[in-house]
Parts: sequence; C-alpha cells; structure tokens
Amino acid sequence: MTDFNKDYKVPFVPSNMPFDENQQQWLGGFLAGLHSRLLLKEESSAQVAAPKAVRPLTIIYGSQTGNAEGVAYDCAELAKGHGLAPQVLDMDDVELPTLAASERLLLITSTYGEGEMPDNAQLLWDAIESDQAPSFANTYYSVLALGDTSYDEFCLAGILWDKRLEALGGKRIAERVDCDGDFEAAAESWMAEAVSTISQKGSDGGVSSAATSQKKVKSQYNRKNPLQVELIDKRVLSSPDSSKEICHFELSLGGSGETYKAGDALNIIPANQPAYAAELLQLMGCTGEELEPRDGESVTLKQLLTEELEIRTPSKEFLAELSLRAGNAELAQLLADEDHAPLNDFLYGKDIVDLLKASPLAEFSAAELLALLKPIAARAYSISSSIKKHDKEVHLTVSSIRYEQEGREHMGVCSTYLADLVEAGDKVKCYFVPNKSFAVPENDELPIIMVGPGTGIAPFRAFLEEREVRAATGSNWLFFGDRNSKDDFIYRDELEVMQASGLLTRLDLAFSRDQPEKIYVQDRMLEQGAEFFAWLERGAYFYICGDAYRMAKDVDKALRTIVAEHGSMDTAAAEAYVNDLKKTKRYVRDVY
Ligand SMILES: Cc1cc2nc3c(=O)[nH]c(=O)nc-3n(C[C@H](O)[C@H](O)[C@H](O)COP(=O)(O)OP(=O)(O)OC[C@H]3O[C@@H](n4cnc5c(N)ncnc54)[C@H](O)[C@@H]3O)c2cc1C
Ligand SMILES: NC(=O)c1ccc[n+]([C@@H]2O[C@H](COP(=O)([O-])OP(=O)(O)OC[C@H]3O[C@@H](n4cnc5c(N)ncnc54)[C@H](OP(=O)(O)O)[C@@H]3O)[C@@H](O)[C@H]2O)c1
Ligand SMILES: Cc1cc2nc3c(=O)[nH]c(=O)nc-3n(C[C@H](O)[C@H](O)[C@H](O)COP(=O)(O)O)c2cc1C
Repeated sequence: MTDFNKDYKVPFVPSNMPFDENQQQWLGGFLAGLHSRLLLKEESSAQVAAPKAVRPLTIIYGSQTGNAEGVAYDCAELAKGHGLAPQVLDMDDVELPTLAASERLLLITSTYGEGEMPDNAQLLWDAIESDQAPSFANTYYSVLALGDTSYDEFCLAGILWDKRLEALGGKRIAERVDCDGDFEAAAESWMAEAVSTISQKGSDGGVSSAATSQKKVKSQYNRKNPLQVELIDKRVLSSPDSSKEICHFELSLGGSGETYKAGDALNIIPANQPAYAAELLQLMGCTGEELEPRDGESVTLKQLLTEELEIRTPSKEFLAELSLRAGNAELAQLLADEDHAPLNDFLYGKDIVDLLKASPLAEFSAAELLALLKPIAARAYSISSSIKKHDKEVHLTVSSIRYEQEGREHMGVCSTYLADLVEAGDKVKCYFVPNKSFAVPENDELPIIMVGPGTGIAPFRAFLEEREVRAATGSNWLFFGDRNSKDDFIYRDELEVMQASGLLTRLDLAFSRDQPEKIYVQDRMLEQGAEFFAWLERGAYFYICGDAYRMAKDVDKALRTIVAEHGSMDTAAAEAYVNDLKKTKRYVRDVY
C-alpha cells in the first residue's frame, strides 16, 4: 500500500478552515492530479520492481589465499546478469543439509598441502564424506578446481568434491575445469558455461539471500601486472656461524596506495641466478645472444632464461619428455607410479641442469627445450610487518636455500634472488596475497597463541606489531624455535623488548639442536598443557605458521592431546572442540 504522506507532500490546509468554491475546485484538481500521478508511479514500479520470480544460486568456495574466493564473487556478478540471485558462502559457513537443499550450486575450491582441502573446506568435506551425508538428487551443480600442476595431487580437492556430489545424486551441468597457476582464463570460460547452463535449470522461486553477495575489491596488481617496489633495507638475521641463512627485507610501497593486513603474504616474481642461465645455455649449445620472439618483440635467449622462465624446477612435461628421449626406464617407472613419493625422493634437490647432465643421450634442440620450460613462478612470503607500525612498508623474513649436491652448488631461485641479486634501491616485482582468516582477532581483549618456528615467526612479528599499535589488551603467547639458540634466534632483540614492555606475555623457546635430543615447539606446548588449555578456554585464538609437512602436523596432534588431557575429553569430544575452534576461525594456519 502506498503511503501518501511519505511519497507526496499535500499542501498544508488548516483543518478548521472552511473551503470556499474556488478552494474546493482547486482541491478537486489537486486530488485528481495526485491520483493520476500515483497510478503512473504504481505502473512504472510494476515494470521495474514487480515481485519477480527469484532463482537462487548458491556459490560456495574453499580458499586458502583468496583466489577461489575471488572467482566466487566474480561468478556471482555474472550470475546476476542471468536472472539469478546468487549467494556466495565460505564453506565454513555452510551446513550440509542446507547445501543439499540448494537447487543450483556452483562450487569453487583450491587444493592445499599435499592434495588436501583448504582449511575452510575441511569440515564441510568431512561432513559430506560421511555415510550420513544427505542426497543431492535435487541439486544441479558444477565444480571449478584451482591448483598447480607442480604439485603431485593436481586439483585433488576439486576432483573429490565433483565425484562426491555426483555419487550423492547431484546432477552435473558443466564439466569440472581444473585450473593451473594462471587460472583466470580457464576460470572465466568455466564461469560462462556453468552460469549460463545452470540459469536454465531448476524451478523458479525460492528465497533469495543475494544481499550477502558483495564483490570483493581486488587489487589491480597480480602476476601479469605486478607492482614494482623498492628494496630499502636488507640484513642477515642468523649469525655467520649458523648452518642456515635467514634474511630480513624491507620494501617500500611508495605512493602505490597498496596496503595489506598483518597475516597476508607477498608474492615475489624473481629472476634466475645468471650462473644457472649460463649453465643451461652451455648445455643448449647457445651463446645467449640468439633472439627469441616474445609478445611481438625480440628478446635475447639469455634474457628469457634469466627473467622469464622457470629454469630450476623441472615441469612434468619436461620430465616425461626427458624419460622418453633418454630411454630412461627408471625415470619412466617413477613417473608412471601412482605413489608419488619415490619420484619426489628421486627429484629432491635436483634441478633441470642436474637432470640434463645425468641424461646425455637425451637430445633437445634449444627450441624444444624452451617449449618445455614454464613461466617463472612467483613465490609467496608471509609478511612480517604491520603497515600500521611501518608506514608504506612491507617486511619479509626469508630462509635462503643453498646446498651442494653432486659437486654443484644449488640455490633456491627466489630466496637467493632476494639475498644475492637485489640491492637497496633496486625494484622488485610483487603482488599481495590476502589471507582473510589469518588475522589478529577483531576483539583486542582476546588472547592469542602463536606457534612459528623458523621462518614461521614472520607473520607473528606482524601480529605483535599490530597488537602493539592497536594497544590491544589481550595477552600474546609465542612459541618459537630453530636449530641453535646462539645462531638462529632471529628477532631476539625485538622479542626481548616486547617481553620487557609486557606486549609479549609469554615466549616459549625450542632450539632443536642445542642438546642431544631434539626439542620442538610442540614439546613446549605439551609441557605447558594446563596453561595452554586455560588460554583456549579464555577464548584464545590459535595460530600456526611454517613447515606444513612435519611441524604443522605434529603441532596439530599436540593441540588435540592438550585438549583431551586438560579438558578431560575423550578423542571424539576433543576433535569436536578442535573442529569448533576451526569453524569459528580461532584455529588458523599459514603453512607451506
Ligand atoms: C603462503 C606461503 C608463505 C610462505 N612464507 C615464507 C616465509 O615467510 N619465509 C620463507 O623463507 N619462505 C616462505 N615460503 C616458502 C617460499 O614461498 C619458497 O618456497 C621458498 O623461499 C623457496 O623458494 P626458492 O625459489 O628459493 O627455491 P626453489 O628454487 O623453488 O627451490 C626449492 C626446492 O629446492 C629443493 N631444496 C630445498 N632445500 C633443499 C636442501 N636442503 N637440500 C636439497 N634440496 C633442497 C627442494 O627440491 C625444493 O622444492 C612461503 C610459502 C607459502 C606458500
Ligand atoms: N622438505 C624438507 O625436508 C625440508 C627441510 C627443511 C626445510 N624445509 C622447508 O624450508 C622452509 C623454511 O624452513 P625454516 O627455515 O622455516 O625452518 P625449518 O626447516 O622448518 O626448521 C625450523 C625448526 O623446526 C624444527 N623442526 C623440524 N621438524 C619438526 C617437527 N616435526 N616439528 C616441529 N619442529 C620441527 C627444526 O629442527 P631440526 O631441523 O633440527 O629437525 C628447526 O628447529 C619451509 O618451507 C620448510 O618446509 C623443508
Ligand atoms: C602450500 C601450498 C600447497 C599447495 N598444494 C597444492 C596441491 O596439492 N595440489 C594443487 O593442485 N595445488 C596446490 N597448491 C596450489 C593452490 O591450489 C593454488 O595456488 C590456488 O590458486 C590457490 O587458491 P586459493 O588462494 O583460493 O587457496 C598449493 C599451494 C600452496 C601455497
């Protein structure tokens, strides 16, 4: 019903005033005009906003660093143009029965760890994988999988979701697309097909929750259009006697206007060591001055190998071709093996030059070899500063990869590009990678527990700086460690100042090689189990950063042991407790 007073203002006429004839005529005309204006208004509003049939579309994402999340929001924008009312949901915010009731479902997920679900997808996956999972017989769906072919289990999380939805009766409306590192083009073509097809499926009507579908604001900088930042300072944090080298880098964002939050990562696009490029050129029988076409221009082969191509880590295509050309039965067997562990063991520490040298029978022309090299990959680094403390700066904490193998010196591409090739004043190509859940609590009064051995300390330096600037009153507990206290206690001075000021409430250290038996951060956690559990009960957030393959798994086990023991819970109850921490984003990880 139209509210007259709201939509049209009637001229004020005192109620006690009698109307003369003229006035009555005027009033009659006014009311007639008003009536026709109202009719017009109702007609036009019927054209513009008559209650249309709402066709809901559920878009869910599993995402660790925001790529899948970004695609989900792009997908929602596209869906609106197809008469759909999209709702974008983090998988952690989805209940399985509600999902099964969705008639139209698009699922976008990356893969993490070694073929694992991203953290925010794990609980929903556990639910759908169980025997009690509901039927999806009324659901039309399609899956987009983000991944990277350099990992063994390419896009496994997306593959598993696709198969499981089908097994539960879901009707696939567009084939799954598995995307490699440069996912944008493949994601767009999947989106175009999936959205258009799904818009034709299912019934009209339903409840729209489109209000939650807000497009993420994306930075203009990415792999293809990187930001150029200036290195303003670098220093070695570990001692010269250390068995490893960890460096601190400070980069200036200048007037770019780019920003980040503590917990995000920075992707660096490196250049290769010239010595590596020279070795490869020699094996190719080239001088490096040969010209190669690139984007309509010519560049020298040397420039291509130094700046644009991944010349250290072998691609799967390179390995397959090498085994074929060299007639290498051992490599062929390893490549064919479903268990990837033996291949990984064989490849560990070997680069392309090692493999070519070990296979003298494999002959490649320069052009054939070039076709098997991938574009140089960006490497992620957890940001170790808070922009609130260091205006327009971003800091990194990087462990340099250097080792000798079979008489050749090996250097990690990006870690040694930063350590050896970039000097203060030089520009570095990079772009930010947001990590939404990996952040200090919004409520400054809540305590936090951080576990970050080795370079895992990086984001926690940022967290502590952030909490300092915000004058957060919540307690801060850090578990840190590395090989030796004398040589590897990085940021020691800063941490001691933070302890003295009361910012760092507790610092528990585990130097693994200071004594005959190994002592790790999880041993310190277990020693302090009662206190640790008390912090969790007080609402503490729990964070892990660093090595994914050994440390993060063992720390997770220690957490469950503590919860069971000090919370007097059986295994199932402890698991439910930990799951709840995950679901409420009070247990988050940044592991690699
Ligand atoms: C989200 C995220 C955050 C990260 N944050 C950080 C961080 O804060 N600090 C940090 O230092 N790193 C961090 N990393 C790791 C970083 O991205 C790079 O993987 C790392 O610096 C190595 O890259 P590189 O180019 O130097 O080495 P590459 O050229 O890529 O070579 C790596 C390869 O070298 C081989 N190798 C390495 N060590 C040895 C050895 N001792 N013996 C034999 N072979 C070996 C292995 O085959 C390994 O795969 C992070 C990764 C991710 C995904
Ligand atoms: N694939 C590998 O074999 C390998 C080896 C080293 C590093 N890395 C990678 O190198 C990167 C940077 O490493 P980093 O410099 O940050 O440090 P790091 O090599 O992860 O070591 C930091 C500390 O963690 C200890 N540690 C080893 N295993 C552990 C476990 N299961 N639980 C808890 N702590 C454990 C180490 O002890 P000890 O070294 O004394 O055991 C050391 O004291 C990471 O990406 C890491 O995954 C890989
Ligand atoms: C530590 C780490 C582990 C990864 N593991 C895999 C993997 O096992 N399989 C795969 O296909 N991709 C893997 N990837 C690649 C990611 O899936 C890919 O970068 C994806 O675009 C990330 O999307 P997200 O930002 O939405 O999480 C991994 C990436 C990282 C950083």
